[in-house]
Amino acid sequence: MTQPSILVARAIFPEVLQSLAQVFEVQSNQADEVWSAAELTRRMQGKVGALTTGSERIDAALLQANPQLRIVANMAVGYNNFDVPAMTAAGVQASNTPDVLTETTADFGFALLMATARRVSESEHYLRAGLWQKWSYDMFAGAEVHGATLGIIGMGRIGQGIARRGAHGFGMNVIYHNRSRLSAELEADCKARYVSKQELLQSADHVVLVLPYSAQAHHTIGAAELAQMKPTATLVNIARGGIVDDAALAKALAARQIAAAGIDVFEGEPSVHPDLLKVPNVVLTPHIASSTVKTRMAMAQLAADNLVAYLTRGQALTPLNTVPGHAA
Ligand code: 8YV
Repeated sequence: MTQPSILVARAIFPEVLQSLAQVFEVQSNQADEVWSAAELTRRMQGKVGALTTGSERIDAALLQANPQLRIVANMAVGYNNFDVPAMTAAGVQASNTPDVLTETTADFGFALLMATARRVSESEHYLRAGLWQKWSYDMFAGAEVHGATLGIIGMGRIGQGIARRGAHGFGMNVIYHNRSRLSAELEADCKARYVSKQELLQSADHVVLVLPYSAQAHHTIGAAELAQMKPTATLVNIARGGIVDDAALAKALAARQIAAAGIDVFEGEPSVHPDLLKVPNVVLTPHIASSTVKTRMAMAQLAADNLVAYLTRGQALTPLNTVPGHAA
């Protein structure tokens, strides 16, 4: 019997690829080439399943050119690269990788917060440049983290993980803003208080963005929001590029309208706004919040398991939509 054909669109752990090859005929991309939309569409020909990352766009045009496709499993919790309504209309199952990256990503959010508040990158660049000649009382004096007010926008699983770290580990006063309020139980667990976006921006010492990207969430932080923040405040974005207006942020940092920022995700990444590269008071990392060996392996395995579960048993493990004939 011939095995169903699938595409693994990006390089992946060889052991995950091997496990997929037990069940499917696999076309892989271990050279990790970045394909254009046309090339991705062409590579999907004849495939019933695909494993993608956040970089591959699955839209109506690709689906129309590939009516045989039945599932696309994203190796990411975020799925703004998927046109989910178009996938549902085409009867294509969409899946993501929730839960397995929550704590690791929250760790990184906190790492970026601390590096930003305590000016870790800026001071390291100074040291490496050979500029450190003597100790001085205000050298790279940053902002307190313990006991400060932590404002979280987007209080899903990762936001809650950051809240717990702040409240329980660093004695922070945690406030949050979200589309919907958490249950009283979860609020108590995270020691977090629900506030309006305006109150959060005006009173937080450290603002962390962890909300999913959507058209409504585009530029959640722009010039107007940055103007509401304290001049001593810091901003961390581990959510998605486009949640922050990067040009406005670079301006606010250059003008010291806010103290500093830590940014892991960028508008149009892997391109980075050139003005962000020019300002010293920003920590810049290349979209690595979920990147530990264990977590990336778990994400790859869950994406692979979704393909196997759906194509062999008709039920994805972590589905994003309900497609005809298969309950989600
Ligand atoms: C991924 C992420 O590494 O899960 C997400 O939504 O942003 C990261 O963990 C990235 O999307 C690549 O798939």
